[in-house]
Amino acid sequence: MIKIAPSALAVDFTKLGEEIKSADNSGADWHHLDIMDGHFVPNISFGPALVKTINKISDLYLDVHLMLSEPEKYFEDFKNAGADAITFHIEVHPDPREHLQTITNLGIQAGISLNPDATAEQVIPYLEYCDLLLVMSVFPWFGGQSCIGSSLDTIAQCRKYIDENNLQCLISVDGGVSPENAQTIIDAGADVLVMGSAFYKSSERKKIVESVHRLKRNK
Ligand code: DX5
Ligand code: ZN
Repeated sequence: MIKIAPSALAVDFTKLGEEIKSADNSGADWHHLDIMDGHFVPNISFGPALVKTINKISDLYLDVHLMLSEPEKYFEDFKNAGADAITFHIEVHPDPREHLQTITNLGIQAGISLNPDATAEQVIPYLEYCDLLLVMSVFPWFGGQSCIGSSLDTIAQCRKYIDENNLQCLISVDGGVSPENAQTIIDAGADVLVMGSAFYKSSERKKIVESVHRLKRNK
């Protein structure tokens, strides 16, 4: 079943508790937590303390996306805050094997992420070491941008490689994802849809989750 991971960057932070509980009650599968340092990306978001707060509110899987220039400095902090998966960017560590192993050794799932201007060839050699591949369909800095079409080719190339090599790596897509483009993104090969604005700006959150869970990949 296709998973949906609402991105907490898009919540109304004046009602954080209610918003997180609303996502839980909507039937969402994961919480996608965007950690930004204002250096690797222009925006600054939040850190381990907020992840720990969300972990107290929700029992859902916490998918922590590190948009940091030195992600390896914070693996343990985010694991201790409750992260179930940590993803960092290939742009920061072109050979991510050592850091993927460090995350795995912490007992949580490990993933890499690539921006829209990176290529499938840059990540394919490392997919056998990954539990998760996060394909950015926008340049990460703020939510609410529109999905960049070229990312579909990257998704499809990685899907083909994962299937041909029987790898366990899930493909997650992040940025500008909505109920309107979900089928296209799934047909390209996604297993998980990260949805920020399209989910948290909606009053029909349960309906969005149910519609995503009904989607199947058209081969
Ligand atoms: C920054 C983050 C995304 C973003 C998604 O780009 O990596 O997860 O919060 O938000 P939407 O779905 O609004 O593009
Ligand atoms: Zn993200």
